[in-house]
Amino acid sequence: MSSATRIARMAIAGTGRMAMAVAAALERDGDTEVAGHWSRGGDLSALLANADVLVDFTLPEATTAIAEACEDRRCPLVCGVTGLDAAGEAAIERAAAAIPVVYDRNMSVGIAALTAALPELAAALGPGYRVAISETHHVHKKDAPSGTALKLGEALTAALPDVSIDYSSERRGEVPGDHEVCFESASETVRLAHSVVTRDVFADGAVRAARWVLGRAPGRYAMRDVLSAE
Ligand SMILES: NC(=O)c1ccc[n+]([C@@H]2O[C@H](COP(=O)([O-])OP(=O)(O)OC[C@H]3O[C@@H](n4cnc5c(N)ncnc54)[C@H](OP(=O)(O)O)[C@@H]3O)[C@@H](O)[C@H]2O)c1
Repeated sequence: MSSATRIARMAIAGTGRMAMAVAAALERDGDTEVAGHWSRGGDLSALLANADVLVDFTLPEATTAIAEACEDRRCPLVCGVTGLDAAGEAAIERAAAAIPVVYDRNMSVGIAALTAALPELAAALGPGYRVAISETHHVHKKDAPSGTALKLGEALTAALPDVSIDYSSERRGEVPGDHEVCFESASETVRLAHSVVTRDVFADGAVRAARWVLGRAPGRYAMRDVLSAE
């Protein structure tokens, strides 16, 4: 088997909703195998020794140690954890100086496309609109506003630096993730909405990112890099 077709060994950090969705995505993807799951108290360094890449879907409390372990082991990292604090962000930046890291608060193709489209729409509408970003997620979600809402807000601010954004969050049932960006003036309303039907969309995106990141130069990448380079 050539190196281009070699089966990649993917380690997964976490055993929660997203980690399990990634494991299921790997079963659908014939070119990748699960090198193992890391969970609290496990030997991450030993797992990384037998992995080509690590996909992290834990929570912010674990991400700094995970990024440091990947850096030490020179193991590429794909991290989808949202709600990182400054220390978590710094750990991702430090790791990215030594290894390739894909960090994105939303791994879906739809949100990548919506994020790319937003600055153009915002610039075309101009400053005369009230802007609101609303999101709904399942009741287990810890962070609010969601990482995706903040990501959309940052894309808007890049186009309209003085924009004031009204964020709202709702936690209900098992909703995997709904987002809406609404521009409102006295005479019209423009809405962009994205609804996740199943977590498979994030998991497939993470597997895509993990396959893409193999063999890349050290650096910090996002889903837009993964999608634009394919
Ligand atoms: N980027 C994206 O596309 C995307 C999409 C969906 C979700 N997310 C984000 O992905 C993350 C995981 O979401 P989820 O729904 O899978 O959460 P979850 O079901 O609560 O799973 C969280 C996992 O993290 C582990 N964990 C938490 N704290 C830990 C620590 N200090 N040390 C080691 N392990 C720890 C948990 O282990 P225990 O069971 O031992 O606590 C569990 O396995 C969240 O930040 C969520 O917002 C991102």
